[in-house]
Amino acid sequence: MAIPNSFLDELVGRTDITELVGGYVQLTKRGGGNMFGLCPFHSEKTPSFSVSVDKQIYHCFGCGKGGGAINFIMEIENLPFRDAVEFLARRAGMTVPDDSAPDELAGKRKRMLEINRDAARFFHEMLMSESSVYAKKYLAERGISPKMAKTFGLGAVPDAWSSLLDAMTAKGYSRQELIEAGLARKGKKEGAAYDLFRNRLIFPVIDIRGSVIGFSGRILGDGEPKYLNSPDTLVFNKSRNLFALNLAKKSKAGMLILAEGNIDVIALHQAGFDCAVASLGTALTAEQVRLMSRYADNAVIAYDSDEAGRKAALRAIDMFEKTKMGVKVIDFGDSKDPDEFLKNHGIDAFERLLERSENHIEYRLMTVKNRSDLASDEGRLKFLTETTKLLSELGSKPEREVYGARVAKIAGVSPESVENEVAKMLRINRAQRRRQHEKQIIRPAQNLQPVDRTLRYKNEYSAAAEEGIIRCLVRDPMLLKVAEEMGLAAEEFTSEFLAKVFTVLNRRGARGEETGAALLMAELEGNEASQLTVILQKPEAIPNGEKSIRAYIERIRTEKLKSGNPDEQLLLSIKKYRERKDVGGG
Ligand code: CTP
Ligand code: MN
Repeated sequence: MAIPNSFLDELVGRTDITELVGGYVQLTKRGGGNMFGLCPFHSEKTPSFSVSVDKQIYHCFGCGKGGGAINFIMEIENLPFRDAVEFLARRAGMTVPDDSAPDELAGKRKRMLEINRDAARFFHEMLMSESSVYAKKYLAERGISPKMAKTFGLGAVPDAWSSLLDAMTAKGYSRQELIEAGLARKGKKEGAAYDLFRNRLIFPVIDIRGSVIGFSGRILGDGEPKYLNSPDTLVFNKSRNLFALNLAKKSKAGMLILAEGNIDVIALHQAGFDCAVASLGTALTAEQVRLMSRYADNAVIAYDSDEAGRKAALRAIDMFEKTKMGVKVIDFGDSKDPDEFLKNHGIDAFERLLERSENHIEYRLMTVKNRSDLASDEGRLKFLTETTKLLSELGSKPEREVYGARVAKIAGVSPESVENEVAKMLRINRAQRRRQHEKQIIRPAQNLQPVDRTLRYKNEYSAAAEEGIIRCLVRDPMLLKVAEEMGLAAEEFTSEFLAKVFTVLNRRGARGEETGAALLMAELEGNEASQLTVILQKPEAIPNGEKSIRAYIERIRTEKLKSGNPDEQLLLSIKKYRERKDVGGG
């Protein structure tokens, strides 16, 4: 299953990270062996993304992401570890060592996609057949044309416990396979199973390569749950895919319309808006946003106009603003969703809505307005406080003036007073940013805790020294001998994460493998790799490596003694070390 280290080492060795990253990010030289560019993982105007030529790692001072070549590909291509390794191997003209397990997995995936395709065929034939009465009637009621049913490969399934199971087992698929594909569930009795989707309208979920990866089933009419989705399987991941992206990616519209329900998506396509997609029953994820940004420059949020929809829209705006995509929101006003709006007002009206579809700042201001009590002084003041904050986040002065004037009008105050408040807010923001910056750059000691909370240090004093040990060892592997001589054990680290890095270093050292930063990254999880790059970027206080590492080791030991519960392992190490030192020195 695992790819041998020797292969990973060679792969990383053959990959030049500046060349690799350079394919995605424009890098410029900045001395000190570092290249800089705009971070591809968060949106920024001044470069804080650096690539170290000698360490062969990247690190962003803005968002904290970092790692080696493999982490970079995992992150930017959105690939799991193994696929990222394969990606790099292809690029380097190498072949990932062939062991049977991954093949087995690939085989399983392929088979699961075949099952899904056959199931989609079965559902679709059911819908088309004479026997499907309710589903056809439902489609007609919702005004979905037979053409759309065909384009989306819609399906139906009778109100029975095993219609799909029967059809699929007759084709030679086993119950177990159907369960693993998420199409059937285990029954109570040994070996029994029943269909997951019963008496529903079926929407196959098709990925960008055209494979059927899962299904959504909508109830025919009202009832709970409205949608039932395939569980995540070997081939289906709800947070990484979008309904109808396979069709929308071909659209010439230059935008993607994001709706809530599959029915909305189909109604939009039917009306000619062939760029509509929906998420798969979860809140919008960063991965989906990134996926969308690969296919369009603009996103239009067309969520339901109820409270939940508005809330979700505000959250989505924030997520799109972190990317280079432009984002707009449609407010359907008296209609509950895009489908209803199209029925009530028609295609042209929707077109007009799209054209002037609200700039998100306007949408936010209106959201604040709607929930404010503008009849009372107190309500108006609260409205002003909230909107000034929004206005102060706008990048340009004309924008601040235009919307400032609108806010002033709504609250019934002079435009100047709003302008003054916004200016005050801008000064506060600026001061805050400066303080933040100082905290990060000038006083790094105060910023020791990893951004990723799962890696949090329990004892910061000890962790600072532990970080130092790791830094020393990566810079100079010869220092492993010093650590060994002092009897340093992984158990002495208070941070599990740093203990893991130490263990990896030790193991590599013992096997005579290289211990370069880029190679270590391949053995760490993404969040760990990021944190390791943070640690490696920190300057070393004492230039003498041996002196430093000795001091650090002493430091974690005194910390442990101070904490009041030194374990036996530690006392033993210290004793052993003192004895040896006495012998050596005396
Ligand atoms: N949803 C889901 N699974 C999907 C798609 C949507 O669970 N595959 C959820 C969404 O998160 C949303 C709701 O179901 O909360 C769908 O929105 P809605 O617009 O109500 O669905 P429609 O099918 O368009 O139904 P209606 O005609 O009633 O608007
Ligand atoms: Mn809807």
